[in-house]
Amino acid sequence: MSRSYYEFHSSVKIVAGTEALEHMPYELASLGVKKPLIITDAGVVSVGLVEPVKRSLVVSEVPIAGVYSDVPPDSSTTVVTNIAKMYRESSADGIIAIGGGSVIDTSKAVNILVSEGGDDLLAYSGAGALTRRLNPLFILPTTAGTGSEVTRVAVIRDDVSGRKVPFASAFLMPDVAVLDPRMTLTLPPHITAATVMDALTHAVESFLGTAKNPISDAYSVAAIKSIQENLPVTLAEPNNAHARLKLAEAACMAGVAFSNSMVGLVHAIGHSIGAITHSPHGVCMSIMLPYVLEYNVKECNDNIAELLLPLAGSEVYSQTAADQRASKAIEVIKTLRDELFEKTGLARTLSETGKVDETQLEDIARMSIDDGALLYNRVDASYEQVLGLLKAAW
Ligand SMILES: [Fe+2]
Repeated sequence: MSRSYYEFHSSVKIVAGTEALEHMPYELASLGVKKPLIITDAGVVSVGLVEPVKRSLVVSEVPIAGVYSDVPPDSSTTVVTNIAKMYRESSADGIIAIGGGSVIDTSKAVNILVSEGGDDLLAYSGAGALTRRLNPLFILPTTAGTGSEVTRVAVIRDDVSGRKVPFASAFLMPDVAVLDPRMTLTLPPHITAATVMDALTHAVESFLGTAKNPISDAYSVAAIKSIQENLPVTLAEPNNAHARLKLAEAACMAGVAFSNSMVGLVHAIGHSIGAITHSPHGVCMSIMLPYVLEYNVKECNDNIAELLLPLAGSEVYSQTAADQRASKAIEVIKTLRDELFEKTGLARTLSETGKVDETQLEDIARMSIDDGALLYNRVDASYEQVLGLLKAAW
């Protein structure tokens, strides 16, 4: 594979560490934010994660415009419009998003409306629709998974058509991502596992895809190494702030990687399983990753072999013959999947999810081959081939 050209862009300032929250007032002031609106969801509020953020602002006498805490898991244009109204009525001048994928995507979409004006969010969905910098946007991820804090995309459901509408622009990149281990300490084991497997899949797929480049490769490898080192520690010691921070950094690095080099067939299938069965995204990633790697090995053998080093460490890598490293890397991922089942109950197969019906596999396969992520997979896949992978994962 040779490419004559690539781009790499990551403009998000990362503020990370065990005292990152306390640094927020300085970052807000440096972007001219005097009255931020907090956007979050009920789950985040119920585990007490908004309070430490508020405290860090109160100490520095930063007034809060308000807290919108009702972002649903599957956010929509109506939710975005309602929050934009709250932003305007409270004279907010910036957004602090505290949450996972839905809160982050919603906040990006709200920022479009409050920066550009009006309530017609769909007018900004096409390529090139955003042409200038938006208002200051701060993201505090509460899972170590999606990497949305550093990506240029958001997906919002249109309440009129029911369609999921993608938004993509460099102007959607947040200004600041705050990675503080206090934000992920309360995450239950199975959600920790599922979201980290999403991050691992971002790192692996961006390393193997058609859009890979040397800079995103470095982020992918660093993310995989950190997950391999810190996921077992986090599951054994959920309150280990150092390991939690390392996983948040890994998810962020994987986000930088796939924001530039995209994802592939695991995501094409995972998006479709999620759309049809509402299975959690990270669970779909964990189940499909090894099967898709086995499918991709014919074109990606050397790159999968390279991943054995960050996946298993130097000792295993050096003790494995060069022609066995790809299959060993896949074996390591399967072992991780099985360990996560033992430790957290994370499903190993589609039938174990309890959400997927075998009669849905054909619809999932049909939808998968139309998913845009397939374009970045080095090996193309037909309906029959995807159905074969789904049956193997059943
Ligand atoms: Fe993902």
